[in-house]
Amino acid sequence: MDEKYHLALKSAFASEFSFYLKSHNFHWNVEGPLFGQLHELFERIYTEVYGSIDTFAEHLRALQVYTPASLQKFSMLTTVDDENEVPPFEVMLHELLADSDKMAEIFRITFDMAEHHGDHGLSNFLADRQDAHKKHSWMLRASLK
Ligand SMILES: [Fe+2]
Repeated sequence: MDEKYHLALKSAFASEFSFYLKSHNFHWNVEGPLFGQLHELFERIYTEVYGSIDTFAEHLRALQVYTPASLQKFSMLTTVDDENEVPPFEVMLHELLADSDKMAEIFRITFDMAEHHGDHGLSNFLADRQDAHKKHSWMLRASLK
């Protein structure tokens, strides 16, 4: 048992769930002249991220780690802050971009930890998550030019 490793994975999982929720929040609440495009962009992002959540949870279980699975646990473990207001669309894009870059960095670090522990199936998954967030960041960044 490596507590630091397991805590990093649980925190990454809670952060990814928070990122999913925020992108769904923005899909629902975005307003402005680019409504249609941004409503779809945020949907594309939350759908991709949500599609990874179950696999991520089951990777944790395979390491005999219990998956955090309540809003309270998520708020204790996440590094992605909630958005409790409805900001202007430019702020939504900047905020989700910063969070996506943060997620890519979290997956870079947890990939190295998984490799160090010889968990190659998990490290493959984490590498794919890093890559997915780099693509989300690209689309968010491109929407801000
Ligand atoms: Fe929808």
